[in-house]
Amino acid sequence: MEKIYIAPSALSADFGNAAAQFRILEEQGVEYLHLDVMDGIFVPNISFGQVVIKSLRPHSKMIFDTHLMITEPERYIDDFVKAGSDYITIHYEATKDPAAVLKQIRAAGVKAGISVKPGTPAEVLLPLIEYADMFLVMTVEPGFGGQRFMADMMPKLETLRKAIDESGKDIILSVDGGIDPATAPIAAKAGARLLVAGSAVFKGDIKENIAAINNALIY
Ligand code: DX5
Ligand code: ZN
Repeated sequence: MEKIYIAPSALSADFGNAAAQFRILEEQGVEYLHLDVMDGIFVPNISFGQVVIKSLRPHSKMIFDTHLMITEPERYIDDFVKAGSDYITIHYEATKDPAAVLKQIRAAGVKAGISVKPGTPAEVLLPLIEYADMFLVMTVEPGFGGQRFMADMMPKLETLRKAIDESGKDIILSVDGGIDPATAPIAAKAGARLLVAGSAVFKGDIKENIAAINNALIY
């Protein structure tokens, strides 16, 4: 089995104590940090934007995996690049021309990801395989942390795993929503390699939580 990475979602972090929390993650070998940007329009919630990401950047060496839950993300790509994102993931449903935005992200010098909400079939991503460095399958309706994992999304991960493997391309398959020690192995078996987890990482003891997810992935 290929290596499985955890991407803690900063949405559930304590922003007044973020530097210390990120240090704990790094000490546990965590390599990715997931940053959920919400505009109150694409999703019914507002989180944080480029200003916050920029202020977090000097406090961590982790790969910044920015998840844009915003409408017409093409308007703000440069801002999120300048803020220090390493990956920028847009939503398929948020823009008229997803391929053009993925090209725009790569042209701006970072990796390009694309995500589908639970109601959007995985197949819409297949024509975008040329332009993407990450596919992200949502296993909750985007907008909030702490929701229940939708196991019926697993066939989407399987479809995309197969397509990525057949293409031979270096595309990371990510899953986001309701990941914890019980659901992480289910998503990994379906083909995910980057597991986003918010509440399961930051609620309680971060060190123990990371260990619990990693232990659940040994099978
Ligand atoms: C939801 C966000 C997720 C969220 C996951 O819209 O995209 O990244 O933070 O939180 P948990 O792991 O608590 O479901
Ligand atoms: Zn997310």
